[in-house]
Amino acid sequence: MEDVKQPENPVRIVGLCGSLRAGGYTRMALEVALQGARQAGAEADSIHLSDYRLIFCDGRDSKEGFPPDVYRLREAVRTAQGILLGTPEYHGSLSGVLKNALDLMGFDEFEGKMIGLVGVSGGAMGGVEALNALRAIGRALHAWVLPEQVTVAQAWKVFDADGTIKDARLEDRLITLGRQVARFAYLHSSRRSMEFLKLWEQAPPNPGGRR
Ligand SMILES: Cc1cc2nc3c(=O)[nH]c(=O)nc-3n(C[C@H](O)[C@H](O)[C@H](O)COP(=O)(O)O)c2cc1C
Repeated sequence: MEDVKQPENPVRIVGLCGSLRAGGYTRMALEVALQGARQAGAEADSIHLSDYRLIFCDGRDSKEGFPPDVYRLREAVRTAQGILLGTPEYHGSLSGVLKNALDLMGFDEFEGKMIGLVGVSGGAMGGVEALNALRAIGRALHAWVLPEQVTVAQAWKVFDADGTIKDARLEDRLITLGRQVARFAYLHSSRRSMEFLKLWEQAPPNPGGRR
């Protein structure tokens, strides 16, 4: 079995942040999860949508052309094997800015990728509604959305102004999520795992359960 802890060819994980707010807690939560991905041996970078001059998705197709930053965003996500999606809860769902960014991308960026979800809310319910919506989007894009997810409720209580997380349990959950995204992304993209999967597909049916 390959050592998934210290891969020879590190996988690339990106954290896509759905909040544009300076000093936003979503960005802080994603940074903790990205640390977890690094601990598992991945290269991990954050993507801040405020660094990209995007347009609203108007349904045009690629042939009609997009501003260069749309292609730059697509490339940053396309070259990652795993993606941590972080969103604030806005009116019981994900932020519009993240939805628009996702609408400007598609299967090329997400199909077959490992996805970890992080939701952040001001209220006590956490970002769970936003994460349900993101989970459905992940399924629509044929991504592997991990069952584990993290919601940070009442985020204003959880972080210091410098981004230090004050809740050790939440810190641990975010780190674990980041590690899982990196490990499953590695497992899913490593050559030997792929060889195993090919052999497995050719294998005779498992007779277990027959009487
Ligand atoms: C337009 C808008 C809608 C919001 N809707 C909700 C909501 O439905 N539930 C909730 O708990 N908090 C809601 N909030 C609060 C945000 O989830 C909270 O401020 C969060 O920290 C924002 O993320 P950020 O710190 O990364 O900017 C809303 C905030 C805004 C600006």
